[in-house]
Amino acid sequence: MSAPVNLQELVGQLDRLEAEAADAIAAAASAEALEELRVGLLGKKGRLSGVLGAMGKLPAPERPLVGQRANRLKEQVQGLMAERLQAVKGAAMAKRIAQETLDVTAPCSFVPPGHRHPLIATVEEIVDLFAGLGYRVSEGPEIETDYYNFTALNIPEHHPARDMQDTFYLPGDRLLRTHTSPVQIRHLENNPPPVRIVAPGRVYRRDAVDATHSPVFHQVEVLAIDEGLDFSHLRGTVTTFLQQFFGDLPVRFRASYFPFTEPSAEVDVQWRGRWLEVMGCGMVDPAVLQGLGLDPERWSGFAAGLGVERFCMVRHGIDDIRRLFTSDLRFLEQF
Ligand code: DAH
Repeated sequence: MSAPVNLQELVGQLDRLEAEAADAIAAAASAEALEELRVGLLGKKGRLSGVLGAMGKLPAPERPLVGQRANRLKEQVQGLMAERLQAVKGAAMAKRIAQETLDVTAPCSFVPPGHRHPLIATVEEIVDLFAGLGYRVSEGPEIETDYYNFTALNIPEHHPARDMQDTFYLPGDRLLRTHTSPVQIRHLENNPPPVRIVAPGRVYRRDAVDATHSPVFHQVEVLAIDEGLDFSHLRGTVTTFLQQFFGDLPVRFRASYFPFTEPSAEVDVQWRGRWLEVMGCGMVDPAVLQGLGLDPERWSGFAAGLGVERFCMVRHGIDDIRRLFTSDLRFLEQF
């Protein structure tokens, strides 16, 4: 038989528990300490549960008295804990504020501000100008197939135009693209006209390095296909673009030849007293449209391609293309 239990004893235990709890709560110094107290007092295996466990041994009519006393104790303890938690948090914050100092006179750690490379800034400026004319950006891979780089652009296998664009060949009919023109084909394969796009990107040629040549350089391709486009649209677009980029300089179109345009032209601007060739362009050759399954009786358009290095060098008066690729900060920091 376990020890006999009586009402006075249980109520006495609850009174003592309440007094002890009040002292312990008042002494708790942190939120963690309060949580530990809560578990010890009110948790499943806590002291209040212990007292209530013994309640079952009382005669039935006395049990509610202990139950009510226990509930009051619980509410009392919870109230004290909530109050104490507020106080403890407030004190912690006050302490932190008192301890933390901010020395507004301390010297900052200097991180030199970076900026975009002049070549990238030039690409962005060109793309921005075309975006203002309603053009979207489209991109293609630098590793191309012979088909997209040449054949689909009306440059069949033994065409002499291939000689001027010798490149780096990879196994399996792949090569490093020699121009951004293949993006014209890729875009039209996936997007029915009308289209207006600019395609910026890196291109490669088997060229020896000198002041004006680099085996790696950058181009921006332009393509517009719609119903009823003719050479006047090409001329208007290219002239508007060049005037926005270079200012209001004289522009001239010279007849030229590209396999994928007919007629074709090269464009010069008069810069510091001499004519400077800045881009190639033309009306997209009907053979190219036909190869894409587009009816040249219905669709027409123009294309253009420009070398970004040339635009960048003219704009900034840079005399040697190699300066754009050697990452010399003394040079680059001027821009
Ligand atoms: N792809 C030519 C090149 O790299 C440049 C060019 C000329 C692009 C005329 C065009 C164009 O779209 O119409 O030499």
